[in-house]
This record gives sequence, C-alpha cells and structure tokens, in this order.
Amino acid sequence: MSSVHIRDVRKSFGGFEVLHGVTIPIEDGQFVVLVGPSGCGKSTLLRMLAGLENITSGTISIGERVVNNVQPKERDIAMVFQNYALYPHMTVADNMGFSLKLRGARSDEIKKGVKRAAEILALTPLLDRYPRQLSGGQRQRVAMGRAIVRDPQVFLFDEPLSNLDAKLRVAMRTEIKELHQRLKTTTVYVTHDQIEAMTMADKIVVMHDGIVEQMGAPLELYDKPANQFVAGFIGSPAMNFLNGHLRSNGQAYVETDNGSKLPLASAPTASEGRPVVYGVRPEHLELASDGIEAEVVVVEPTGSETQIVARIGTQDIIAVFRDRHDVSPGEKIRLRPRASAAHLFDKENGRRI
Ligand SMILES: Nc1ncnc2c1ncn2[C@@H]1O[C@H](COP(=O)(O)OP(=O)(O)OP(=O)(O)O)[C@@H](O)[C@H]1O
Ligand SMILES: [Mg+2]
Repeated sequence: MSSVHIRDVRKSFGGFEVLHGVTIPIEDGQFVVLVGPSGCGKSTLLRMLAGLENITSGTISIGERVVNNVQPKERDIAMVFQNYALYPHMTVADNMGFSLKLRGARSDEIKKGVKRAAEILALTPLLDRYPRQLSGGQRQRVAMGRAIVRDPQVFLFDEPLSNLDAKLRVAMRTEIKELHQRLKTTTVYVTHDQIEAMTMADKIVVMHDGIVEQMGAPLELYDKPANQFVAGFIGSPAMNFLNGHLRSNGQAYVETDNGSKLPLASAPTASEGRPVVYGVRPEHLELASDGIEAEVVVVEPTGSETQIVARIGTQDIIAVFRDRHDVSPGEKIRLRPRASAAHLFDKENGRRI
C-alpha cells in the first residue's frame, strides 16, 4: 500500500495538450474513482500512473518516490483494463501466475500467490479450467486475480466492468468493494457508471477536457456541486436546469422567462435580477397543488419508480417519484421543487452561488 500524488501533471500528444495540469492527492488505502465524459483524459492519466505513457510535465509520486522516470515493472502497480485478454491456451492458475513467472519467481512462490488470490476471489475450484470454460464474470475475476496475485502497492482499473451484463456488474461491483475492504490497497478506478462511482469511491474526481472540475466524497459532490458541469454530471437522471432571474426582495426565488416562481430556502448573496441557472434534481420535485404548472410529455414507469418528463414553458424537466402516478402525456400537473435542495449557478460562468 502507498499514497499516490499527482502534481500539476500535463500531457501532450504531438503539439496537442490533453491534460492541462492535473493535481490529485490520493491517500494510502484510498479508493479513488475518476469520472468524466469520453475523451477527457481518464485513461491517459491512468496509463501515466502505470508508466505506459510518459509525463510531459509535473510529477507523479508513489509513496515518497517520484516515479516519472521509473519503468512500469518497477512501479509495483497492477492494472486491470476494460479488455482484459486472458491467455486462451493457459489455465486459470497459469494465467494468474504468469506475471510472477515473468519476474522469475520460484514455482512454490507462484503456487502460493495463486492459491491466495484464488481464495480471495473464490476461484479455487476453477484453477484448472481454460478461459473458454468460464462465464464472463469468472473471466473478469481471473483478470483481477492476475492483478492481486502480485500484491501491488496500487491497483489501477480502467472500466473493468463495462463488458459485463447489468446483473454481473452489480455482483462484481460488490466483490471489488469487498476486496478493497479486505486488502485496503490504494486504488484508482475509472468508470462511466454513476452508481459504481457513488457506491465504490472514498473520493470521486470529476474530470472534463483535461482538467479536474471537482473532487470530494460522493455525497459532497452530490449535495454541493461546485459548478453546473459537476451538477449535471453527478446523479442519474441528471439534475434539471432552469434559466431565470434572481428575485431577492422579500422571500427569495428564481423567476423563469414564463413567470414561474422557483423557490429558494434562503436569499443568496447574489444581486437582485442577476441571470442564474436554477438546479433541481429529479428526486427533489413533488406533485403539489401550489407547484409550478407543467405539461406532461412522457411517462416512464420503471417498476420501482415513475419518471415523468414535463415541460415548463419551453424547458423540459424530469421528475422521479417513488409512488406510482396515473398521469398521461398532455395532462397538466403541478410540480414543486424542494427549496432546501435547490442549487443556484451563475449563468455566465456556471459556478455555484
Ligand atoms: N496515443 C495518442 N495519441 C494522440 N492522442 C491521444 C492518444 N491517446 C489519447 N489521445 C487523446 O487524448 C484525449 C484523452 O484520451 P483518453 O483515452 O485519456 O480519454 P478517456 O477519458 O479515457 O475517454 P473514454 O471515456 O472514451 O475512455 C483524447 O482526445 C484522445 O483522442
Ligand atoms: Mg478511457
């Protein structure tokens, strides 16, 4: 185990800079999840941590050691990729022991390492099988087994579950979390999956176009997104944004272009009449007779909840209800945002007000 420090790291491919000074402190034993839109630089950063890409400027340290010029195999890091190709002609045991063999470990050492990893991952009964004789989830576990057999300082995962079906993903998510609770190995994990990020992370890092927009505990980001980008990125379905102007004489609210009044719990420090974006999460809207009039566009019952897309003036918003509501497209409903859960952003720069 080890802490990891990424300090003002930049990366250019040719003359094109894709990471513009990224700083991420990672504590010993922490589980850090990187999220962000496609192309924002997550895999590049992970590959730099692993030593598979060189660092254009800045430093990466593992423990006390700056590893900028340290070879991948000397970094004591294990990486699990999205496309974890197993060697088809090798058994599970040989696949798992291969990295130790490459390093010239003795055969009894390899056997011991494989045995331990197999026990942790419940692969012991499968050690003599070949990859083609395994299910997707079992193969994924072997790929992880290859990583943990080495007992590295740091684990790197690049969307390791994205090839699995929904049910398996959930099962593997729990397994990885359990594994981390047991081994406490410092981990950096890239995912596109909101739920994975929220449930697995000690700390989520939201990246966008080669910069860090915000980092913090999952619920911190959910409750207090620093800007409109993070607000729209964390949470599913995404936060609704409504444009309007701040009214703060007397009870504060945001007035939309069509005159709807969106409630605020307290008057912000921003000035009267300032153009703002009002943010409210789908789960923070309720049906109420004193709510804002909206026209139902689409109703989507998922079984456990009902999602309703509704139009307020020209703006569409999504509301999610735990209860079943019998409404149809075209119908008028009244929606009330929970004032205490509303977010306010500057219209110009998107920052939280
Ligand atoms: N070897 C390379 N040469 C040139 N450009 C590259 C190279 N590798 C990555 N890039 C560019 O760097 C940027 C970041 O890519 P990266 O793969 O890190 O994104 P990502 O966040 O992992 O995206 P995704 O979520 O789609 O996996 C992209 O614009 C990509 O085109
Ligand atoms: Mg990637």
